[in-house]
Amino acid sequence: METARAVERRFACNDDALAPGESMTIPAEDAGGVAIAVFRNEDGELFATADTCTHEEWSLGEDSDLEGNEVVCPLHMARFDITSGEALCFPATVALKTFEVVVEDGRVHVLA
Ligand code: FES
Repeated sequence: METARAVERRFACNDDALAPGESMTIPAEDAGGVAIAVFRNEDGELFATADTCTHEEWSLGEDSDLEGNEVVCPLHMARFDITSGEALCFPATVALKTFEVVVEDGRVHVLA
């Protein structure tokens, strides 16, 4: 039986390092085993999801387009809602896992 892993704060970046419309990736080795994408929307809000597109292997934090609260995977144009992880169109049918983001003392962390 698999035991639950404790949720920890995973450092993403300094708060001023991510401009509106940008994203970045916390590598798996720094995020508890699964890479996490962090997005800042045009309103300045931060959201975090699993980094890998659920259709095939593609890093959404490294290379994607953010349109409002929707991230578009450039490989086959799947779209996800970064606030909920919901897959919004084919070919993706599985949601991205989402994570809570905490900003404190100018540093962005993800709880994962
Ligand atoms: S890998 Fe993202 S849509 Fe295919």
